[in-house]
Amino acid sequence: MTAELSAGRGATPQATRLETLPAHTPGFETRADERSSTRGKVTLVGAGPGDPGLLTLRGLRALEAADVIVADRLGARGVLDGLAAEGVDLEAEIVDVGKLPGHHAVPQDAINELLVTLARDGRQVVRLKGGDPFVFGRGGEEVAFCHDAGVDVEVIPGITSAISVPAIAGIPLTHRGLATTFTVVTGHDQIQALGGGRDHTVVLLMGIGTLANSAITLARGERGGRCPVAIIEDGYGPGQRVTVGTLDTIALQAARRGIRSPAVVVVGDVVTLSPYAPFSLIEPVEISGRAEPTSQSL
Ligand SMILES: C[S@@+](CC[C@H](N)C(=O)[O-])C[C@H]1O[C@@H](n2cnc3c(N)ncnc32)[C@H](O)[C@@H]1O
Repeated sequence: MTAELSAGRGATPQATRLETLPAHTPGFETRADERSSTRGKVTLVGAGPGDPGLLTLRGLRALEAADVIVADRLGARGVLDGLAAEGVDLEAEIVDVGKLPGHHAVPQDAINELLVTLARDGRQVVRLKGGDPFVFGRGGEEVAFCHDAGVDVEVIPGITSAISVPAIAGIPLTHRGLATTFTVVTGHDQIQALGGGRDHTVVLLMGIGTLANSAITLARGERGGRCPVAIIEDGYGPGQRVTVGTLDTIALQAARRGIRSPAVVVVGDVVTLSPYAPFSLIEPVEISGRAEPTSQSL
């Protein structure tokens, strides 16, 4: 670009090169600015766990301004349906790339290409992803692909299921006296041994298929087989259900109850805080020589 224009007040009459002006200089709008205002862009929006009330305000504004919404199924579709039910009228075209757990209706490469193609057509594209785009969401790959293609990309974080789904079962991931650390792990592949005891909360996403093995692995460490476990299926959805047991019992309970994805598995003493936890899970501990419960069931 070599366009030149006269500078404003206080400038010498000599021409000022456009490139030397800061972006969006008031009063100096050019055709380049006009083009950039219609330039396509990709915005990754975290939809949260599926309840429209847990979408961020910034995420909602991005959806309202979008020409196209490229949506996953888990979390994202629930939010779009929920917004429609609440009378929020989105004008955008919706492209459902329908990712179900373990089943990618549209391969990731094709999704990346789609985002870039739509943005290059000058469209405002929202990529609506369940939970947070950067927590086991392949959001980083989509951002990198857009960068490499020279497409503007922004990320609006979402509320991850790793934290919000345990919360709906009354389970905080940290709690004074019970847990000071938490780790979020994918159970998509077999998990490796994880250090720490029952005060180190472990959250497994995509962990149902490998649950039996994960329970054995975690029980072998300092946690032991009596460590409490909760599984929350379909958090915030119509099939929401909570199952509570221990590392020794949870695989059998899951099989008996026919537990299915999507589900979040929480391992550690914080599970005892859940109103779904049976009293039998609350083990007495010795405090100053006196037996005291570690927590109370609500
Ligand atoms: C591919 S990961 C995506 C995680 C997402 N980016 C997030 O931050 O929540 C999908 C896994 O998230 C968990 N998940 C997401 N939404 C859920 C929900 N509403 N209820 C239970 N589990 C959920 C399940 O473990 C599921 O298998």
